[in-house]
Amino acid sequence: MVKKVAIITNGGDCPGLNAVIRAIVKTAETHLVECYGYIEGYKGLLENNYIRLESNGTASGLLHRGGTVIGSSNSTNLFNYPIEENGQIVYKDMSYKAVENAKQAGFDCIFTLGGDGTQKSARDFSLRGLNVIGVPKTIDNDVAHSEITFGYNTAVSVATEALDRLHSTAESHHRIMTLEVMGRYAGWIALESAIAGGADVAIIPEIPYDINKIVEKINRRKEEGKKFSIIVVSEGAKPKNGEITIKKTLNEGKGVDNIRLGGIGEKLSRDLEELTGMVSRNTVLGYVQRGGTPTAFDRVLSTKYGSKAMELAIEEKFNVLVTLKNGKLGYVSLEEVIGNNKEIGARSRRNTKYKYKKSNNG
Ligand code: F6P
Repeated sequence: MVKKVAIITNGGDCPGLNAVIRAIVKTAETHLVECYGYIEGYKGLLENNYIRLESNGTASGLLHRGGTVIGSSNSTNLFNYPIEENGQIVYKDMSYKAVENAKQAGFDCIFTLGGDGTQKSARDFSLRGLNVIGVPKTIDNDVAHSEITFGYNTAVSVATEALDRLHSTAESHHRIMTLEVMGRYAGWIALESAIAGGADVAIIPEIPYDINKIVEKINRRKEEGKKFSIIVVSEGAKPKNGEITIKKTLNEGKGVDNIRLGGIGEKLSRDLEELTGMVSRNTVLGYVQRGGTPTAFDRVLSTKYGSKAMELAIEEKFNVLVTLKNGKLGYVSLEEVIGNNKEIGARSRRNTKYKYKKSNNG
């Protein structure tokens, strides 16, 4: 019987994390289950650092708050963790220590709020004997088997507002405006904000772009009297026969994301200036799209995900990810989720299909 549970928020933060925490806590309380939160993601599990979460205390006033009140860590892989030994950094498997900590603390279930990388660790912890339940978090919307991840709707709304604002300045100055948005190797934020913001071109990682086609489109618009163009480009996009643009490569060990994407917007903007003779300016939306208050949609979605996660714990359905499919809450084994990031699929003649692609990121 589940009596004591803990929450971990891991990976890049995202709007709705606090709303999920609140929902788990409230649902736990209705079942007389004690709820705790590990501090700074998986790091807290290793350091045995956790706090009590109560709806009339630490978990109060969370619904509209951005970020995560229990903190997150983005590059912690306890299965290959950097330790200093004799002045040198060596990588060690610290997962056994983390499992021991959680067992000693008496947690019957740990909720892992995160994307693909977080859920991979969760699966590995389940193989070491912990009961885990994942909740699909990321602004990138790329977690497999979930129609929509929490945080995504907020990111699309922020990007759409940015596009509205870029429209008026582009029109006043007869410029090309490129907007670089996040999303890693999936183009969901770019595609949906481009549709909502009425952009002229959307460039997504799933379809390498042909610069000549973009130039043709801009020139056609000019001939029709539209002397400005708006282009949304996803950070993971690349030209045909070209490479993705990497801002920085880190060295934080195996099993964590060492690649910082970024720079494709600026590159595209310069290329378009040269090829069209028009003035082009680039905007990088950056962390604005994942900070701050969640939209009403994300508050509702996060609340549904959080309460479903706790209900699954009560039913003792462990080692699964909470999902939303055809509008219905459900769950799927973590095994089926990891390494299968959801990307935008090729358009067939009759319908648009989503494909699930193997990837180690997210
Ligand atoms: O996965 C969420 C995300 O915001 C991506 O869209 C982006 O590429 C990445 O995280 C940035 O990560 P970091 O916080 O490490 O800079």
